Amino acid sequence: MDINKIACVGAGLIGSDWTTLFSSKGYKVILQDINKDILDNAVNVIHTNLIFHEKNNLLRSGEVEEALKRIELTTSLEHAVSDADYIQESVFDDLDLKHRVFKEIDAAAQDHAIIASSASGLLMTDIQKAATRPGRCVMVHPILPAHLIPLVEIGGGPDTLPKSIEIAGNFMKKLGKTIVVLKKEVPGYIVNRLQAAVLREAMDLVDKGVATAEDIDNAFCKGCGIRDPFIGPFLRAHLAGDNIERFFENYDQSYRYRFESMVTWTCFPPSAIKAVVKDVNKMHMVVNKSIDELKAWRNDKLVKMLAMTNNKN
Ligand SMILES: NC(=O)c1ccc[n+]([C@@H]2O[C@H](COP(=O)([O-])OP(=O)(O)OC[C@H]3O[C@@H](n4cnc5c(N)ncnc54)[C@H](O)[C@@H]3O)[C@@H](O)[C@H]2O)c1
Repeated sequence: MDINKIACVGAGLIGSDWTTLFSSKGYKVILQDINKDILDNAVNVIHTNLIFHEKNNLLRSGEVEEALKRIELTTSLEHAVSDADYIQESVFDDLDLKHRVFKEIDAAAQDHAIIASSASGLLMTDIQKAATRPGRCVMVHPILPAHLIPLVEIGGGPDTLPKSIEIAGNFMKKLGKTIVVLKKEVPGYIVNRLQAAVLREAMDLVDKGVATAEDIDNAFCKGCGIRDPFIGPFLRAHLAGDNIERFFENYDQSYRYRFESMVTWTCFPPSAIKAVVKDVNKMHMVVNKSIDELKAWRNDKLVKMLAMTNNKN
């Protein structure tokens, strides 16, 4: 199926990132949100993103204005989606809201249109209940900043047609994304589950007084993070043991000690929140840079690293 026209529903962080990506790749996009102020703010964000792309040779000189011209803004959901081949929904992660929005999109969209959700905390099993044609509803989960990070996680609920997953996956690949298609639905998909495991342990280390938040971030970035762009946990284990079988034989006891001393809590403990908030607000980068400066600094680092790993998007 050819995808020519795109609608982005929701113009917050993720909707703006998607619109940056689609418009920079030459697609016409209709961006929708509930009021004009939000849309105007989104356009400023998208403009800044596109200038960043141009500066970093992800867009040719002069293409920023062309990309911006491909974006239409609207507060009408029906107008946004009625002519689209691919709809990317990025409203708040709230099931009632997703149901309302999916119901409206489903009623107004063309029969062949794919309806993708960016949702991170909800399952497609639940979201697609609002649609009369749930077969075309797909989870297409980006990672922030979505206009730069290569990975997109794709999945479906029990009623999603394999064809819809295939179309969404092929479209993402055409945009230069690396896709991982989940064989089963799980809350948080893959990336957010891995991040949650690391965050829980990092918070507990601060709470236990083992190290400061700044030292833990440093240990992560200079210890695991520096290697992680090209080696995942399994390849790391394979190398650490000289082969994967030997890794499990050699490290069985040492990992048992670690696992036995690690926490398994399922909601943030107040003591850990208090300790982390206090520490993070003292971090050198947090004291010296605003949120916008931190985002710009992160994007700058990210684009250099992507160029090194030969994966621009
Ligand atoms: N922020 C992240 O890191 C991240 C990463 C991946 C996926 N996501 C997912 O993307 C989705 C959006 O997250 P976000 O961070 O962009 O949130 P956000 O709060 O920045 O933006 C949500 C937008 O939805 C709009 N909205 C609310 N009701 C609407 C309606 N009826 N019609 C149209 N627009 C409506 C809001 O006005 C707002 O602009 C969520 O499902 C979230 O889980 C977020």
